[in-house]
Amino acid sequence: MIELHGLVHRFGEAPDSTEALRGIDLTVGEGEFLALLGPNGCGKTTLAKHLNALLLPTEGKVLVDGLSTSDPAELWEIRRRVGMVFQDPDRQMVASVVEEEVAFGPENLGVPPEEIRRRVGWALEALGIQALRRADPNLLSGGQKQRVAIASVLVMEPCYLVMDEPTAMLDPLGRREVLRAVHDLRSSLGLTVLYVTHHMEEVLQADRVVALQDGRVALQGAPAEVFSRVEELRGLGLDIPSHLELAWRLRSAGLEIPEGLLGEEALVEAVLRRWRELQ
Ligand SMILES: Nc1ncnc2c1ncn2[C@@H]1O[C@H](COP(=O)(O)OP(=O)(O)O)[C@@H](O)[C@H]1O
Ligand SMILES: [Mg+2]
Repeated sequence: MIELHGLVHRFGEAPDSTEALRGIDLTVGEGEFLALLGPNGCGKTTLAKHLNALLLPTEGKVLVDGLSTSDPAELWEIRRRVGMVFQDPDRQMVASVVEEEVAFGPENLGVPPEEIRRRVGWALEALGIQALRRADPNLLSGGQKQRVAIASVLVMEPCYLVMDEPTAMLDPLGRREVLRAVHDLRSSLGLTVLYVTHHMEEVLQADRVVALQDGRVALQGAPAEVFSRVEELRGLGLDIPSHLELAWRLRSAGLEIPEGLLGEEALVEAVLRRWRELQ
C-alpha cells in the first residue's frame, strides 16, 4: 500500500515559490489500478515522483508499505518496490540490444547472470516482445519501445508500477499496445498501478480515478461515477470521451439512459433499446 499524508511539495525555498502539491491525502491499495488525471501543471508528475522518492515531501509524508520516503535508509528498498515509467521511451534507453537494455537494472545490482536471464525472458514474455530480444531498441516503434521500457522496470520485480503519461508520445496503435500490456500485467501479476494520463478514454478501465487541480485532489471515484460529473470535469478543463458526452447530452435532453455505462457498445444498446420503446 502507498499512502500520502498531507503531502505538500514546494519547488524552491522562497515563500512565494510554486506550491505544486498543496496537501494531498491519498491511498493506493494493493492490486489497485488508479488513474491520475488533470490539466497540465496540476501536479501529476510531481506526485508521481514522490512515490519512489525522486522528490521528497516539503511537508507531510509518503509511505510505501510503511517505509517513509523521507528516511534515507529506506531509499533503495522503496525504489526497488516502486518502478517508474516515463513519457519518453527514448530517454529511458541505454543499450543497443533489447535484452541488454532489459538486463541493465539487475546487472547493476549484481544479480547473478542465471537469475538475470530468467527474469529477462520472463519480462519480455510478459510484455509480448520475446521476438524483439535481439533487436536494436532505437529501431522499434514507439509502442514497442515503451514496452521495452516497462520490461526493464519489471525485471526489478517491483510491487508498484508508476507510469507518467506512458502513451503521451505514441500513436493510437502504440497507445493501445501499451495500455493492453499494462492491464495484462496487472491482472497476471497483481501489480498495483498508478497511471497518469490526460487521455480520458484510457481511464475507463481503472478501478478509481483521481483528478488533480492546482495541486489538490479535485474529484475522485470509480470511472462511471466520475464520468457522470460532466460539468465538474469540464470545469477542470478535462474532456470526456465523445460517446460519454453524447450519452450525457441525450440524458440532458430527456432521454432515459441508465447511468454508469462506460463502453461504447453498451451505450449504443441502451440508446437503441430506449428508441425501440419509444416507437
Ligand atoms: N523543477 C521545477 N521547478 C519549479 N517548478 C516546477 C518544477 N517542476 C514542476 N514545476 C511546477 O509545478 C507545477 C506542477 O508541475 P507538474 O507536476 O509537472 O504538473 P503536470 O505533470 O500535472 O503537468 C507546475 O506549476 C510546474 O510549473
Ligand atoms: Mg507531467
